[in-house]
Amino acid sequence: MYRIVLKATRMAQDIVKKVIDETDIAVDATLGNGNDTLFLSNLLHRGKVYAFDIQTIAIEKFKKTIHERNIKNVILINDGHENILNYVMEAPKAIMFNLGYLPGGDEKIITRPDTTLKALSDSLKILKPGGVITLVVYTGHLGGAEEGLLIDEFIKKLDPKIYSVMQIKFANRDERAPYLIVIEKNDSYNEDKHNILC
Ligand SMILES: C[S@@+](CC[C@H](N)C(=O)[O-])C[C@H]1O[C@@H](n2cnc3c(N)ncnc32)[C@H](O)[C@@H]1O
Repeated sequence: MYRIVLKATRMAQDIVKKVIDETDIAVDATLGNGNDTLFLSNLLHRGKVYAFDIQTIAIEKFKKTIHERNIKNVILINDGHENILNYVMEAPKAIMFNLGYLPGGDEKIITRPDTTLKALSDSLKILKPGGVITLVVYTGHLGGAEEGLLIDEFIKKLDPKIYSVMQIKFANRDERAPYLIVIEKNDSYNEDKHNILC
């Protein structure tokens, strides 16, 4: 029996799982402790995962996982996701962001509004039609509320003819509880006919 887990990170994975196929390309924009990268790697048997993190400690930790599990489909990038266009040349079917700071790591190293918005805007350009971007947003830490507000403003302006956008939030918890944003690029979207205004 399928059990629903009402947790932003888990719901992001549940949605991505429905969308990707084993040959697809995916991006984990915030590697951190590697949960999303491992999740994607396990699904993309004949595909590829690009995983970004600015923290060398996160990259080095996942290198060990790659070695221990003999993982062949993950490309680690020790750079900011705002530079995604320099590294990802194939259209990803899923791009996952888990914002904020590395759990168990340096809480002062956080995702930042300007780089997050640049990464999001560039991610939309390369996302495959029918693909999704998920963002788990945390507003409880210093700078988190500002980042959340700017993302919310940005997604409201996305053209509904090209994108379907949902926010999934707890209705009965503290307003600082993490929430999920899902952006789907409509399957019928034809790059030749439209200019993406973002
Ligand atoms: C909430 S953690 C990610 C958690 C991760 N998904 C997991 O499964 O453990 C956020 C991560 O984003 C990283 N980060 C911060 N700014 C970044 C940027 N500009 N580009 C890529 N990663 C960044 C942090 O170093 C941190 O590891």
